[in-house]
Amino acid sequence: MLELPVIRQTTPSFHRTHVGARRVYIETYGCQMNVNDSEIVLSILNANGYGAAELPDEADVILLNTCAVREHAEQRIWERLKQLNPARRRRPGLVIGILGCMAERLRSRLLNTGLVELIVGPDEYRKLPQLLEQAFAGDRGIAVRLSRVETYDDIEPLRTDGISAWVTIMRGCDKFCTFCIVPFTRGRERCRPLQSIVAEVERLWERGFQEVTLLGQNVNSYRDPATGADFADLLAACARAVPHMRIRYLTSHPRDMSDKLIDTMAAYANICKYIHLPVQSGSNRILALMNRGYTVEQYLERIERIRSTMPDCALSTDIIAGFCTETEEDHRATLELLRTVRYDGAYMFKYSPREGTKAWKWGDDVPEEVKIRRLNEIIALQQQISYEINQQREVGRLHEVLVEGPSKRNPEQWQGRTDTNKVVIFPRHPDVGVGSRVRTRITAATSATLFGELVEILPTPLPHRQSTATLTPSEH
Ligand code: 5AD
Ligand code: SF4
Repeated sequence: MLELPVIRQTTPSFHRTHVGARRVYIETYGCQMNVNDSEIVLSILNANGYGAAELPDEADVILLNTCAVREHAEQRIWERLKQLNPARRRRPGLVIGILGCMAERLRSRLLNTGLVELIVGPDEYRKLPQLLEQAFAGDRGIAVRLSRVETYDDIEPLRTDGISAWVTIMRGCDKFCTFCIVPFTRGRERCRPLQSIVAEVERLWERGFQEVTLLGQNVNSYRDPATGADFADLLAACARAVPHMRIRYLTSHPRDMSDKLIDTMAAYANICKYIHLPVQSGSNRILALMNRGYTVEQYLERIERIRSTMPDCALSTDIIAGFCTETEEDHRATLELLRTVRYDGAYMFKYSPREGTKAWKWGDDVPEEVKIRRLNEIIALQQQISYEINQQREVGRLHEVLVEGPSKRNPEQWQGRTDTNKVVIFPRHPDVGVGSRVRTRITAATSATLFGELVEILPTPLPHRQSTATLTPSEH
């Protein structure tokens, strides 16, 4: 999964709760699944009478939903906990809780710090109301059992924005990549029923959402528990149920990236042509050590199949620099793979040993300065490639963009995303708002952002809203 900036989650519907209700403030770290999990937590607490706090200082409960995938992610949480600690003096009785992967990994070790009252792992969120009651009565609480069945399928997440929704379709991971803590913090793989996912997506469309991202650690191994329908079947069922909704998914494992899935993506216009396909390394020796289950050649064959079926499909990946025993030759093989594939983008990390994983026992023998140098070389090369791709392929091109809101850098500009998941910035227009679909012509680009001009405001395919004006005649 991709790591996101910290998200402070509150939701408008939360404010309808009664006066005098206890108020909760939640901060989300890590991947998109954590964002959706926080929405599930908000839903559970809201149903139990909790209201929302806009700021930690106004809250009776502060929850941090955490990530444990790298040491750095955990460091940020420790710093945040220390920062929050003085709030106890201002708000006697304040309960601070840790949710998510770090709660699962560190368990009672977290309680012993005295910085938190509550530790709740990813499969125990239903217990939160009860644990909070205990915490208010002065009892510190911990619930970290992992489940083989919990999917929170019956809980409608309290979503935080009205355009794009995360929909978790499965939880856990059975792949056991040797570097990864996720199978230990999120447990065994389990899937929601296909029908309930399709029904949720339909409800989101009715409420005005324009885009859904189906989430799982490895969505390609999705199976409907009753019928055995696979991920391609689920994707097709969603695409048919809401033909004007943009449908995305995260994350794919190259080993399970089937021809059927590629063909299904190609067959439906509303399935976005973007695949995040983590490769991790360009060295077969390292891939075997990582237990990834494919060789570079097999991976490249999948890329070929994707590109021959969907020439315009954007691709991104994850790379780990400095995995244990990685040599200069292995590193050069990774650089070579980046040159061969020419990804649109990549998420690049230094290897971070995680206690309890298989690779932990093999040590961390690549010196820090070597890891940093290799990571910097990988980043520099990928930035150059992304820049070239954007200059050569994107400038001059027309893109349909779903508008997400004002640009973060310059509120005078709108920001949206292409079908291929690229960010486009373009000047504001009075008839364009959040959720509008527009056609833009790309006029300039950096390695990470496209800049465009508005060509046409497209009809907004909402159940209730009607089409809007055309600026200039459509070029298609
Ligand atoms: N060290 C560095 N990166 C890691 N990832 C997972 N575990 C580790 C680790 N121990 C990266 C992988 C994965 C992404 C979500 O995080 O690249 O695809
Ligand atoms: Fe971790 Fe590998 Fe599972 Fe991804 S597929 S969550 S990297 S174990």
